[in-house]
Amino acid sequence: MATRAKLSLAIFLFFLLALISNLALGKLKETEVEEDPELVTCKHQCQQQRQYTESDKRTCLQQCDSMKQEREKQVEEETREKEEEHQEQHEEEEDENPYVFEEDKDFSTRVETEGGSIRVLKKFTEKSKLLQGIENFRLAILEARAHTFVSPRHFDSEVVLFNIKGRAVLGLVRESETEKITLEPGDMIHIPAGTPLYIVNRDENEKLLLAMLHIPVSTPGKFEEFFGPGGRDPESVLSAFSWNVLQAALQTPKGKLERLFNQQNEGSIFKISRERVRALAPTKKSSWWPFGGESKAQFNIFSKRPTFSNGYGRLTEVGPDDEKSWLQRLNLMLTFTNITQRSMSTIHYNSHATKIALVMDGRGHLQISCPHMSSRSDSKHDKSSPSYHRISADLKPGMVFVVPPGHPFVTIASNKENLLIICFEVNVRDNKKFTFAGKDNIVSSLDNVAKELAFNYPSEMVNGVSERKESLFFPFELPSEERGRRAVA
Ligand SMILES: *[C@@H]1O[C@H](CO)[C@@H](O)[C@H](O)[C@H]1NC(C)=O
Repeated sequence: MATRAKLSLAIFLFFLLALISNLALGKLKETEVEEDPELVTCKHQCQQQRQYTESDKRTCLQQCDSMKQEREKQVEEETREKEEEHQEQHEEEEDENPYVFEEDKDFSTRVETEGGSIRVLKKFTEKSKLLQGIENFRLAILEARAHTFVSPRHFDSEVVLFNIKGRAVLGLVRESETEKITLEPGDMIHIPAGTPLYIVNRDENEKLLLAMLHIPVSTPGKFEEFFGPGGRDPESVLSAFSWNVLQAALQTPKGKLERLFNQQNEGSIFKISRERVRALAPTKKSSWWPFGGESKAQFNIFSKRPTFSNGYGRLTEVGPDDEKSWLQRLNLMLTFTNITQRSMSTIHYNSHATKIALVMDGRGHLQISCPHMSSRSDSKHDKSSPSYHRISADLKPGMVFVVPPGHPFVTIASNKENLLIICFEVNVRDNKKFTFAGKDNIVSSLDNVAKELAFNYPSEMVNGVSERKESLFFPFELPSEERGRRAVA
């Protein structure tokens, strides 16, 4: 036993020796060919020991091999760890702008036919790990040309549908009948998961543009569409069943079923005639019967009275307080911001809600302050707090941006157009807005002693800075002093 231990120690030393000599020569990094230099040296040492019996030598050689293997494993692990570390860093650095989504880069096209398209925004967590909180929300944009039919389907997700532009008819298949709903711009409606629905663009000239927020009920962050009973393109969800099953269930011979299933070939969005559009429109029978007749969307955000309005902008909110039970259940609020040209929203943040904002119209600018993106490499940074990174973007229609809770942000309309933004605010329960400027901002509301301590400045001076008579929306202009100086310069 004792000789055995000695032997092991000796081999270990041979191996180490081999390793060191190779390290010294800088050979370790070289690609290892069959003849591994460490192994060769170790084995050579084994053979050289005169005092070893043949069996000792064999053991020695074997141990050289196993030590080599162990060493390899170790190196492998180290490289993997390094790679992972590198990857993590890389991922965090990957997107300098984790909250802004471009129309052409960050959407993927799910459906594209002559009649229209459905584009789906990439998963929020695919853009950035910082968006894990809203991982289960997906945004899709449906565009349908004039007089088109979007064939019946259902989703494994709750859908909140917002009519951005154009005029639609929705057919929602209820238990015993189809409920038809006419939609105008600004209309919002909830489609419960699994409800079969079709959509008609009833306008003869104008495109229909719908935003659909999906909240998957099955696989988090992933939703699928299931096409109706018949057709080859779109392929019917029933096509997966065997003919025997279909024949037995539908009590129809195979030949007939085949004809039925192969008939529809136009894709999932296609043009239809004016007569068909008329036939699909809800009949305006003034009946007491709640089904089959015309229904309206649950509400229209454009015609609702703004929650706040001044000359520089308007904010309209529809939230759980409005007794829309489904909004409450989904913990959602819908807001519409209309910022007058050359004006800005105040710097503010939400306490609980994450904003998923879609620019509807106009141009402007966005800035968000974010602690997650501050450059880590700044090693000289030895303050007692994080540093903040400005995320900014020029806004144009079709762009999407996200503002996480607690992050102060500001939106500014361009000089020429109002900036219209529609927002799905998620996780809105208990949400409050806190502002940094304007009436009742968090600076002026801070008690005086704390304020003086925080700023190390007399509180009256501080109050003068953040207080102004307007709240929420202001003109976007520099203070007169600064403007004067600028004019001179
Ligand atoms: C936006 O506000 C302007 C007034 O600044 C108003 O004329 C316009 O109709 C509003 N747009 C919508 C869609 O509400």
